Amino acid sequence: MDGNGRWAQSRGLPRVAGHKEGVEAVRRTVDACKKLDVEHLTIFSFSTENWRRPQTEIDALFGLLKLFVKKDLARLHKEGVRIRIIGSREGLPSDVLKLVYECEEKTKNNSEFNVNIAFNYGARAEIVEATRAIAEDVAKGCLKADSITEATLQSRMWTQDLPDVDLLIRTSGELRISNFLLWSIAYSELLFLDVLWPDFGRADLEQAIDDFKNRNRRFGGINESANQTA
Ligand code: IPE
Ligand code: MG
Repeated sequence: MDGNGRWAQSRGLPRVAGHKEGVEAVRRTVDACKKLDVEHLTIFSFSTENWRRPQTEIDALFGLLKLFVKKDLARLHKEGVRIRIIGSREGLPSDVLKLVYECEEKTKNNSEFNVNIAFNYGARAEIVEATRAIAEDVAKGCLKADSITEATLQSRMWTQDLPDVDLLIRTSGELRISNFLLWSIAYSELLFLDVLWPDFGRADLEQAIDDFKNRNRRFGGINESANQTA
């Protein structure tokens, strides 16, 4: 979800106005995904690198998250949405931590749709934490180094029970991944849009999914038809 700041600046508004409008785009997108039968939506809301921003902006972002939970959690729960917060729990204020657990606990038995919020998330930090957990098991003698597989790593990730990413959309015209889900996007289709996140809407999502459907995914293999004609 990139481009909140630029959206606000282009209107002569403070950056936080862009973040507020960004929350509306989240609501629209969750709704659109449900209607379009998407099973998982993972949104990058706050990265481990976003701590570099001014404290006032960080406070505003946390404030918006709290407001979102307060305003939307009951409704999302009623609609059968399961919410997962993926990321490090370190460094988070206790009131924010409380909300993180509340969201996950309240919705853990829901299965209509999955909203995964990457919050205090960094893919490298995720890989480091998984590696540490594996190293500890090896040191304790309950895991042998030569039995470590991709599944072993997957089972230690914050994203352990999430499927690989099919389609990754980055808004705002930047052509970067910025430390998002590096492990799970190995074979994702990438889509970079010029639209700023607060302007993102259902039509953009529908077009993105149409685009995705036309991609030829081979996962390193070859097309069935190519095989037949060979
Ligand atoms: C929102 O956009 C992303 C968040 C970290 C919440 P930005 O705040 O990065 O917006 P730009 O890139 O400055 O326009
Ligand atoms: Mg940005």
